Amino acid sequence: MCGIIGAIANTNVVPVLLEGLLRLEYRGYDSAGLVVTNKGLERVRTTGRVTELSKLVVQQKTQGFAGIAHTRWATHGVPSERNAHPHFSGQDSKIAVVHNGIIENHEAIRSNLKDKGFEFLSDTDTEVIAHLIAFNLQQETDLFKAVCLSLAELQGAYAIAVMEEDHPERIIVARNGAPLLIGVGKDGNYVASDTSALLQATRSIIYLEEGDVAELSNDGYRIVNCLHNRLGDPVQRAVHESTLSNEAIELGPYAHYMQKEIFEQPSAVANTLEMVLNAQSISPNLFGSEAEKIFSKTSKILILACGTSYHAGLVARYWLETVAGMSCNVEIASEYRYRDPIADPNTLVIGISQSGETADTLAALNYAKKLGHQYSLAICNVPESALIRQTDLRFLTRAGPEIGVASTKAFTTQLASLLLLTVTLAKMHKKLSADDEKKVIAALRHLPVALQHALQVEPQVKIWAKSFAQKRHALFLGRGVHYPIAMEGALKLKEISYIHAEAYAAGELKHGPLALVDSEMPIVAIAPNDQLLGKLKSNLQEVHARGGELYVFADADSQIAESEGLHVIRLAEHAGLLSPILHTIPLQLLAYHVSLVKGTDVDKPRNLAKAVTVE
Ligand code: G6P
Repeated sequence: MCGIIGAIANTNVVPVLLEGLLRLEYRGYDSAGLVVTNKGLERVRTTGRVTELSKLVVQQKTQGFAGIAHTRWATHGVPSERNAHPHFSGQDSKIAVVHNGIIENHEAIRSNLKDKGFEFLSDTDTEVIAHLIAFNLQQETDLFKAVCLSLAELQGAYAIAVMEEDHPERIIVARNGAPLLIGVGKDGNYVASDTSALLQATRSIIYLEEGDVAELSNDGYRIVNCLHNRLGDPVQRAVHESTLSNEAIELGPYAHYMQKEIFEQPSAVANTLEMVLNAQSISPNLFGSEAEKIFSKTSKILILACGTSYHAGLVARYWLETVAGMSCNVEIASEYRYRDPIADPNTLVIGISQSGETADTLAALNYAKKLGHQYSLAICNVPESALIRQTDLRFLTRAGPEIGVASTKAFTTQLASLLLLTVTLAKMHKKLSADDEKKVIAALRHLPVALQHALQVEPQVKIWAKSFAQKRHALFLGRGVHYPIAMEGALKLKEISYIHAEAYAAGELKHGPLALVDSEMPIVAIAPNDQLLGKLKSNLQEVHARGGELYVFADADSQIAESEGLHVIRLAEHAGLLSPILHTIPLQLLAYHVSLVKGTDVDKPRNLAKAVTVE
């Protein structure tokens, strides 16, 4: 996690650094800092957010032509000013470092450097990088070479940017396991953890690759790769023109990114399905040129993911079994990577991730390959991410940048993609007739409009939110394919409103959670008019009979009447396979409005970050 930005230009770079940090704040926001060269290295750090850093910078009139900056999500060491980046080392000529990632062997390096007389002022793993570079600079006077030599000693994942007091005319940056992009500008050069932070300065972007180390000056750059040579072999990397629009990363008329992203879902899903919406039939090529070959060999599916993406996988399991007749296992990536599962070469491994950067998902996928799984597919929202690069097949959810920490449009676009995958596999394995294929395409064509319709329940949800905001706990119930949707609804509520929420498969209620039911426990139920509705209604009766307050999201044709202690919001008539996607919408709205009533930080909930690039 953490966000990095650096700039070296012909003008004062402080505004670029601050604007970049604001764009990167989704990656971590428990402290922020920057350093610029201005008659020496001038550093400003705060435990506050980027807006606090901006105030300090104005007070201190900080300016400089080169600088690096950081917004932190604490891993080693509590959020405090002394643990905030940049970290320094060296006496005669200071070194400043910002870092995203984790240095796994930091303890060994720290003790070694302590023996050599280096004094540590923070609890971070990052500080060892600064001292290591300073140490190597004692033998090797060129900073670029000293950085390369230091990197050879680091284990773990990192993206770093380094400056030296005596040579303010350059910034050295490196990437290994965490994203880092160079922005090539007319009046300067830039580096950042993602494109959105660079757009203010340039659209010409270079995606650094694993092992790349680069030197930036105000009028040029050079890149070497250190994977096979400690001092690096020169490499050329393509410059891409980013097509990301400013609108995509700006709030526009919305109060929060989460609100914007909830309401963008009709267009996000339409973009994701664009290639299908105008087609007469579905082609496996949508998943990559090798897809037909790989899908024809696929007999089982293994899905690896975390958080909301894991919930998308759980929904897909129901679809894959029912529509494609394919058995599917869905695993929490952080658990899978430490088990001893049995590999099967005919199982297609699918990594689902909004960011494509989640450390556990990446590691689980690698582990699956090591175990002997042959083929992999990424479903991901970030085209240049590590996940996309490490799989045989890929499908991009074209949701556009998702900035709110609580995932919304990434989830529904993942679901749309997984439904498409399901019907593709079903078709290839002769489980779907040509007629049914047409029906699914027609349903997918209708999905953006159906999502628009689902968003119209907002005024009713707002009323419910007022009573929810007073509660400390909530239960979410669903059955079948809507059980993972209940899990996602509970996750949304706890993430942003801090109300303890748990999801249960409604049939499990009587095996324990029913003991929790009283008038203080709101129970949210997802009640679509599917084949399990009758069963669910009995479960709801069990709650009602015990004085529980029920909040039911039903279909127009679910035939559940309001009564004392039983509130109902109705969506449109039952939407078949699309139903879990549509039933997600009111749950997102509920979490959002409860959070508004409670006054919590919707887009940046406490203790969380968007892209979890550490274990
Ligand atoms: C974090 C985010 C969640 C997200 C999860 C997995 O916990 O806050 O919103 O679902 O990571 O992220 P990914 O990028 O792999 O989908």
